[in-house]
Amino acid sequence: MMTPTDQIIRGRILSFRHRPEGPEDTGAYTYLEDGALALAGGHISACGTWDEVRAGAPAAPVTDHRPHLILPGFVDTHIHFPQIEMIASWGAQLLDWLNSYTFPAELRYDDSEHAAAMARAFHDLLLSHGTTTAVAFCSVHPGSAEAYFAEAARRNMRMLGGKVMMDRNAPEGLTDTAQRGYDESRALIERWHGTGRVGYAISPRFALTSTPAQLEAAGALAAEFPDCPIQTHLSENHGEIEATRALFPEAPDYLGVYERYGLVRENTLLGHAIHLEPREIGAMAERRAKPVFCPTSNLFLGSGLFDDAGLRGCGIVPGIATDVGAGTSYSMLATLAEAYKILQLRGQALHPLAAFDWITRGNAEVLGLSDRIGTLAPGSEADLVVLDSTATPAMALRVSRAETLAEELFALQILGDDRAVAEVYVAGAAQLDRAAAQGRDETRALQPA
Ligand code: GUN
Ligand code: ZN
Repeated sequence: MMTPTDQIIRGRILSFRHRPEGPEDTGAYTYLEDGALALAGGHISACGTWDEVRAGAPAAPVTDHRPHLILPGFVDTHIHFPQIEMIASWGAQLLDWLNSYTFPAELRYDDSEHAAAMARAFHDLLLSHGTTTAVAFCSVHPGSAEAYFAEAARRNMRMLGGKVMMDRNAPEGLTDTAQRGYDESRALIERWHGTGRVGYAISPRFALTSTPAQLEAAGALAAEFPDCPIQTHLSENHGEIEATRALFPEAPDYLGVYERYGLVRENTLLGHAIHLEPREIGAMAERRAKPVFCPTSNLFLGSGLFDDAGLRGCGIVPGIATDVGAGTSYSMLATLAEAYKILQLRGQALHPLAAFDWITRGNAEVLGLSDRIGTLAPGSEADLVVLDSTATPAMALRVSRAETLAEELFALQILGDDRAVAEVYVAGAAQLDRAAAQGRDETRALQPA
């Protein structure tokens, strides 16, 4: 028997089927001016015009978000949970920034109570920015991952993450050992991977902070748990690349270090991937690994300009992410704005349709989750973001002159941030109720007709 409809969400519906080839590719998406979603048991049970969806569930309660847009919740494929306290730290590039600001902040996650308080703040920040799924690095302390997963589970969010494995080149108090990193990660996988909507990502931080023995242990874990994603960092900064070559002189290049230990596969997420050798690009394509573009971070740390079109031209499918705390915003909209500017410097123009596909369906595909999240297709989990493209006076003025959906989306992409997020749903449950709090009348819970 079909699950009965719990509620109907009405508004302007936008969902992508594949990455738009260009501005004219209307077949890539569904856009319904007066659309609606029927939600049942935390899933989307129908997506169509208001008339169609209403006819299928005439008695269900309705939340009317018109004139706002309803999209799948945003997906952030690379973020650091313990860095929420040191985002916006001045004056350094990657290695100095890690030593001066990041490692001292991560040391505090030894304290489980602190980790639990910060996990609450972290999830609040994600949701208020419209992000319903993220893949996060926790600190080296298993308690930080425990706090992170417990908070995600409490909110019924589809979240991925893992404790970082690091056994050298970090302060005492931020290192495990090859064996401890393996044991603690394994225990967390057994406890959390596939518990509710939570998934575990095996997380050797990067080549510089792991001994060969630890990378070998991470590889063993990866072989035992093939459906756990692997997340790490690759070729973000020239100093980092030189230091990696010095530590692993036998490897052909940086990616070769990870390949050597069985850490490069289809569900491997490689943060940054900016300064790549041709061999690395070929190997990444062959193994279907996923580079992750972190635009605000790459600008903030002066790391370099990601080559999106170049990688896609080789058949590689990149993700896009905030990389907070080197990233400077939790907003995937602000992330798209900086992505646009970086790609302009590369002579590549990121079209708004492709941009909104990227932060929803595209990132879900990168995580192998596009059958569950990232689109509004019936059967998907009901993680939604409701966007107000007139949220600020500057946006309202610009959007009043917009003649097409793409123009409106581009205003959101360039001018938008958390102020444009009118509501967020996690598995069908509204999280912000901002419109109600502000007494606006365009969002109202209607009684059954
Ligand atoms: N490389 C290794 N660790 C990190 C980190 O925390 N942030 C960034 N941006 N790069 C890294
Ligand atoms: Zn990172």
